[in-house]
Amino acid sequence: MDGPILVIDRDTGQPVGVQLVEGLRRGILGGTLRAGDAVPSTRGLAAELGVSRSAVVAAYEQLAGEGYLEVRQGAPTRVAELVREVLPGLPTETNALGTPRSIDEHRPTAGEPRIDLQPGRPSTARIDTRAWRAAWRHAAALEISSDSPPLFGVERLREEIADHLRQARGVVCGADDIVVTAGTSEALALAASALALLSARPPRIAVEHPGYPAARRTLERRGARTVPTAVDADGLMIDALRRMPQPPDAVMVTPSHQYPLGGRLPVASRLELVAWARATDALVLEDDYDSEYRHLGPPLPALASLDDAEDGRGRVVLIGSFSKVLTPWLRLGYLVLPANRELRDAMALIRGDERCPVPGVAQDAAAALLASGAVRRHIAVTRRDYAHRRRLVLEALDGIPGAPISGLDGGLHAVVRLPDLATSAAVVQSLAAEGVAVAPLGDYSAVPGEEEPGIVLGYAGVGDTQLAEGLALIRAAILEATRTAT
Ligand SMILES: Cc1ncc(COP(=O)(O)O)c(C=O)c1O
Repeated sequence: MDGPILVIDRDTGQPVGVQLVEGLRRGILGGTLRAGDAVPSTRGLAAELGVSRSAVVAAYEQLAGEGYLEVRQGAPTRVAELVREVLPGLPTETNALGTPRSIDEHRPTAGEPRIDLQPGRPSTARIDTRAWRAAWRHAAALEISSDSPPLFGVERLREEIADHLRQARGVVCGADDIVVTAGTSEALALAASALALLSARPPRIAVEHPGYPAARRTLERRGARTVPTAVDADGLMIDALRRMPQPPDAVMVTPSHQYPLGGRLPVASRLELVAWARATDALVLEDDYDSEYRHLGPPLPALASLDDAEDGRGRVVLIGSFSKVLTPWLRLGYLVLPANRELRDAMALIRGDERCPVPGVAQDAAAALLASGAVRRHIAVTRRDYAHRRRLVLEALDGIPGAPISGLDGGLHAVVRLPDLATSAAVVQSLAAEGVAVAPLGDYSAVPGEEEPGIVLGYAGVGDTQLAEGLALIRAAILEATRTAT
């Protein structure tokens, strides 16, 4: 391209960063910069415009977060293909033969949603691919062992996880307390198997209602009986546990961001829950799945850090996962064992037979990735991206009569309540017809017949432009369904 792609006007009083972002965005939307075009290097553009390189880096990062640019380590930053898909009015790009490149090449295959806003999907666009590849190269170059990985996981990874927990969560533990798992799901399966081993009968595990259905089913498949337990705006109701005629053997809880409703257990309730667990000798399975992302209010202490287990009967098992802070593709998680010999021995016995299910090479790679600082940086970058997307959700959906929005203080999803189940179904169906996937809130019910009306939408897994289109369609679908319902 000849000439500068934008001009900085120092007389307007508008900050340089804002001018950079707006100028580049205008260039993309106006077709001056086309899908697939490489944008100038940050150094080159900074020199050309007489601005600092860090201002250009920040502008590129923001536009990448919004879905306009694709940043790949070791390759030029380019205008995202996505932009063309969601803004079909843009000029058609031609390929090397001069024939138009069909946008169908980028379309999802039949049956897949065009805009997938189902909860549980993080953004992977900003993963530092150079660090990712280096970590896997490092792991692949290590000597091939003839043994299975250690039962509780590779020591170096357990050390890195303990470090990660201290930095990201303020939880103080050592490598010896960590058990590497294949995600939260396998951590729960292991905990349920250990409970079954320790009690003569099938363990009873209290689960949140509404709550995480896959977790419920995992526990049941491992022989546990689940006991639905009510939640309120703060999360699990401790009173509901206390009222149970027979205390359960364990309770599974999402205290930092109740899944899916989004409540956060206040400190007093956390202390009550831990006291209840100690009094009844129940185990607490603390699913800390997305607490690295807190948008409003300070993070509260993990239940595990409130469990003073000097008697050697620690009750809280903290369960974490890299599914949100990196990608579920990795299938990597961990649990933090409390000081509890019986539980540790039971898990060691199970792992002795079943072995550690996470491949040693993947553990080595994850350890190298954590050690490189790439995960910490990724969390910092995605925190900003998600905070911005959360704002887009609020701008689009807050204040619709009859459809209050909630659950947005942390994490990567939101809940929109709807007046009744018929309206919910109408919204989900009309969105599906538009190619937008969201989850019905009723799917999270742990009690048949007690489904609540509403939708759950994840806002992390798509870029800003796609999210904005999805949100506009959701808003329209809700307005239409609530209008026809009245
Ligand atoms: C409540 C909850 N816990 C944990 C997870 C992560 O599960 P996993 O680590 O098995 O991918 C999810 C994923 O969506 C979740 O919704």
